[in-house]
Amino acid sequence: MALTLNDKYIKDFVAKEDLAAIQSEISAAHKTLVEHSGEGSDFLGWIDLPKNYDKEEYGRIKLAAEKIKKSCDVFIVIGIGGSYLGSRAVIEFLRSPMYNNLKKDTPDIYFSGCNISAGSLNELLEICEGKDVCINVISKSGTTTEPAVAFRVFRALLEKKYGKDGAKERIFVTTDKARGTLKKFSDEAGYETFVVPDNVGGRFSVLTAVGLLPIAVSGVDIDALMKGAADASDEYKADSSVMTSACMKYVAYRNLMYRQGKANEVLVSYENYAAMLNEWWKQLYGESEGKDGKGLFPASVIFSTDLHSLGQFIQDGKRNLFETVVSVKAIDSKLPIPFDEANVDGLNFLAGVELDEVNKTAMKGTILAHIDGGTPNILIELEDRSAYSLGYLLYFFEFACGVSGYVLGVNPFNQPGVEAYKKNMFALLGKPGYEEQKAELERRLK
Ligand code: PA5
Repeated sequence: MALTLNDKYIKDFVAKEDLAAIQSEISAAHKTLVEHSGEGSDFLGWIDLPKNYDKEEYGRIKLAAEKIKKSCDVFIVIGIGGSYLGSRAVIEFLRSPMYNNLKKDTPDIYFSGCNISAGSLNELLEICEGKDVCINVISKSGTTTEPAVAFRVFRALLEKKYGKDGAKERIFVTTDKARGTLKKFSDEAGYETFVVPDNVGGRFSVLTAVGLLPIAVSGVDIDALMKGAADASDEYKADSSVMTSACMKYVAYRNLMYRQGKANEVLVSYENYAAMLNEWWKQLYGESEGKDGKGLFPASVIFSTDLHSLGQFIQDGKRNLFETVVSVKAIDSKLPIPFDEANVDGLNFLAGVELDEVNKTAMKGTILAHIDGGTPNILIELEDRSAYSLGYLLYFFEFACGVSGYVLGVNPFNQPGVEAYKKNMFALLGKPGYEEQKAELERRLK
């Protein structure tokens, strides 16, 4: 068991009878998920993924990662939403947000195609000057505007640099198995392709080729990541009790908070290497539960940084939120606080104390202050900062999300709401077929 859930700081906000009463709903939702009998059951491939995956492709992922590591200085991962957040979350959690500045034997990794910023693309093009470059374009549909534009730009760069034949050795495509324009285009161009399985939605795809190829290029041990997720899947599938399963406890408390009228769940970390993990979690819960006028708004903070900004609101603002804190137990980076003769800052009482201990003490003090201010806290403690433990945590959140969505009464595996902006954008940009909407939107913008 790589993680535990401590409910000491939320218990007092929930009546014992309410926790007991939600058990039957959770058992039913757990059964629905495990038996694939609920809405969205066509998208449950992720449940057994840590064990039931394409072993041939998994081998090719490792080989491609080795090839990429040897042949480039800069590796660009092109994708948006579920097609990039998982890999970025894992790489930054286990390597560092400052990965590209570290001394290492793997390429610098950049993420592109996750916005429509000309500035970002131009900067990355500049970074590529004089460097060897490989790209991995990831798009299940193959038609998402943001990655499609970035792919055009970097494909042109590679073809200019290496010629069409040279470029095809440096372009790796992760997309639908058979359908879609990107698959057809890649086969014709001779690019190596990997599969986004039909039955896995973007936000649940971190343990498919979508996440695994970039993660393997970063040097993270993908076997350990998968093993952590596999062990979590054994644990969480087998136990639906809110008393004994950390995962079901999490589902119970967040739904009880929602029913009490809380509108926001804030995911908290005390390490900035978790910032992208927070972003991955926000997509997972935001897209899965935010529909039909329902759902907790998933927000996130990095403490102690944000204690100097949003901390005020969490302590003292509108009482419509609760926090879920993810803490890593083992110290993975030692740095004792130095002694200073002058002691102008008065900190010599801490000389020789590990900075991590100070950080964890800040966490304890903050949790107590926040619960005193009326903000309940759930504490998830991860054993260590390893690929195994992170795989466990990813699966914890995915499984909890599936059960929680069913408890909430939504289909956790669709995302109808993300289409609205795309239709308007296409209409305003003059895409053929959108003429009527264009006129109406332009009238409203006047
Ligand atoms: O979770 C999702 O389905 C989305 O975030 C998609 O991953 C995102 O829109 C990218 O889609 P695609 O992979 O088709 O380019």
